[in-house]
Amino acid sequence: MSKQSYTIAALAGDGIGPEVMREALKVLRAVEARFGVSFEIVEAPVGWAGIDAAGQALPDATFELCRRSDAILFGSVGLPDRDASVPKQERPERAALLRLRKQFRLYANLRPVKLLKDLAHVCPLKPERQGTGIDILVVRELTGGVYFTNPKWTEELDGGHHRAVDTMGYSTPEIQRIAHVAFQNARLRRHKVTSIDKANVLENGVLWRQVVTECAKGYPDVALDHMFVDNAAMQLMLKPSQFDVLLCENMFGDILSDEAAALAGSLGMLPSASLGASNGDVTFGLFEPAGGTAPDIAGQNLANPIAQIFSAALMLRYSFGLTAAAAAVEDAVVKAIAAGFRTGDIFSPTEPAAKRVGTSEMGDVIAAGV
Ligand code: IPM
Ligand code: MG
Repeated sequence: MSKQSYTIAALAGDGIGPEVMREALKVLRAVEARFGVSFEIVEAPVGWAGIDAAGQALPDATFELCRRSDAILFGSVGLPDRDASVPKQERPERAALLRLRKQFRLYANLRPVKLLKDLAHVCPLKPERQGTGIDILVVRELTGGVYFTNPKWTEELDGGHHRAVDTMGYSTPEIQRIAHVAFQNARLRRHKVTSIDKANVLENGVLWRQVVTECAKGYPDVALDHMFVDNAAMQLMLKPSQFDVLLCENMFGDILSDEAAALAGSLGMLPSASLGASNGDVTFGLFEPAGGTAPDIAGQNLANPIAQIFSAALMLRYSFGLTAAAAAVEDAVVKAIAAGFRTGDIFSPTEPAAKRVGTSEMGDVIAAGV
């Protein structure tokens, strides 16, 4: 039997983070009441909130809390207006988020993009381009590639100029382990993997393609094709229904997942799971909305909490194996949307029956629906 009590580090972060986190925690309390599990949820500062509270984007106490937790539910970090006040290595994106990904070896990032039937009208594509529907799982490599490979530096040149260098590298094992994640997930879906690379130009793209092709031999029931990243960006606009699982290296996955999210109506709907090692009972992971801190709407009860709530559902499924509870949360979101509840980002005046609601009311409706 799997264990029925879980420790969650809740790191809300900056901008809209705290208000959307509050709604996700409401929903988790509703899951406790309905499913007889218990969550020990400990909140801690991260990002600019960490810098303000303890002088570091990832305070030592927050890091220790993560280490002893079963999973991290993460909000979002980063306030570009404050960036100039600290050196770039100490800013929240690098010092907190990328550090957590690297330190906990969260190499597999899953971003499910699904256009809900009731939101088809907020998709920027014409109905005829939506085809049979948009239901894509972006599997993004998260601890390698140009984000993390050394060397990485900025040097000063003569004449007051600078030169900045980043390196994009991948090794066979790094590609293999993420490819396996993509193929295994394809087996739970429509059995198709599209692997993204830039093998016509990049050395690591050539290796990526070779290694993925080799891995595919272990999954004869899964269809594999390869696509250059520029073409993939275009195909997402032209015919997104051709994609099932999109397998991407780190930066290509970053870019294509934002593009795919827009197809689902709003970045405010896109959750993500970043998974590391499993001990059999619990798979350690970090769960966060794919969108950012949205400082322009922060603190105004305007943000869509669904990406954060969907992220909590992914935590229930992937970290704790609570499949029924995860499905109940996802169903509650679908019901809230079907009942016409809309935050501003998914509201359209063309829907006369839609009810425009704030962050907390959306959370209430979803929690009640669990
Ligand atoms: C994401 C974000 C991050 C990334 C930023 C905030 C560092 O855009 O999770 O997609 O680039 O990975
Ligand atoms: Mg991104």
